[in-house]
Amino acid sequence: MKVLVTGGAGFIGSNFVYYELKHHPEDEIVCLDKLTYAGNLETLKDAMNNPKFKFVKGDISDRDFIFDLFEKERFDIVVNFAAESHVDRSIEDPEIFVKTNVLGTTTLLDAVKKFGIKRFHQVSTDEVYGDLPLERKDLFFTEETPLHTSSPYSSAKAAADLFVLAYHRTYGLPVTISRCSNNYGPYHFPEKLIPLIISRALNDETIPVYGTGENVRDWLHVEDHCSAIDLIIRNGKDGEVYNIGGHNERTNLEVVKTILKALNKPESLITFVSDRKGHDLRYAIDPTKIETELGWKPKYTFDTGIPVTIEWYLNNREWWENIINGEYQNYYEKMYGDR
Ligand code: NAD
Ligand code: TYD
Repeated sequence: MKVLVTGGAGFIGSNFVYYELKHHPEDEIVCLDKLTYAGNLETLKDAMNNPKFKFVKGDISDRDFIFDLFEKERFDIVVNFAAESHVDRSIEDPEIFVKTNVLGTTTLLDAVKKFGIKRFHQVSTDEVYGDLPLERKDLFFTEETPLHTSSPYSSAKAAADLFVLAYHRTYGLPVTISRCSNNYGPYHFPEKLIPLIISRALNDETIPVYGTGENVRDWLHVEDHCSAIDLIIRNGKDGEVYNIGGHNERTNLEVVKTILKALNKPESLITFVSDRKGHDLRYAIDPTKIETELGWKPKYTFDTGIPVTIEWYLNNREWWENIINGEYQNYYEKMYGDR
């Protein structure tokens, strides 16, 4: 089979490329990526010499380019990871989120429709469900939870999900959607919470915690997200949504303290800064459907996944130092300078 992975030079997409090359060596993988600030060819260097792997630079919202690529390559499966993915950036400048996350997805859907692809999988997020109250620990997002977004990022992802489902209902396209909780693991861009904590703590720099640090996220190791998507694209049912999560809810402050302790760094590095606008309180996934229908089981808990992730950042210092020493420095100044 020939699989198109869009956004494969980013965090989750690159982990998925490696997962597929390892678990399905018979398949061909084409990675398409625009190489925005979040895309990094260094991340894919171990795949570049694999004869089953090919990298193509391009934009999912560039219709002519996408149609030419689909005509030439004749993919069996398309997995769409490509997106603008950072909530804080979406609050600063929403427009590119509409262009990539919504228009990019509909452009891919049109190509899937024209070229008769067997499966289009949309990598979505639990953030499309909005948030849950902190004090109601009994509540979880199920696939039936109404979409109720908070940020420009999650709104653009929700809009894309609705188009994916509309193309299924209207044109009968063979689509699936997954909505996963927060990921962590190798190749995670250090603007996101966990790699930001690890990289700054290793450099003895302050750790900015938004508001009171009581917001809750449900954390999943990226390899478990990849194994879930792999199951869905091969065994999932057309038109279905699958929630992915492993019941690893932690407050942001718990996450920061766990990592500081593991690195033997003092809690005095924690600095409370002003809260994110519209900050979602709590995410929590009910993964019963994917567990019972597809037999998915995560390999890691938060307590086993965090130490291996820290070890990866210790062994791959050059990868993240190249990022934080580049244009990212200006981003950090702009976002945190007078917060
Ligand atoms: P990321 O920002 O690390 O990577 C996104 C990749 O998409 C980058 O390589 C970037 O260059 C590429 N890209 C951006 N715009 C593009 C365009 N117009 N055309 C082609 N490529 C483009 O993001 P990530 O964390 O790996 O997230 C991947 C997907 O998973 C996203 O769709 C995101 O919404 C979803 N998701 C992320 C998480 C998480 O915790 N990170 C959780 C659930 C779902
Ligand atoms: P993030 O990694 O941006 O993921 P998301 O917003 O998609 O959940 O943030 C995770 C949580 O950490 C979120 O509640 C915001 C918080 N946060 C901080 O407290 N400080 C930071 O510097 C960052 C980037 C995030």
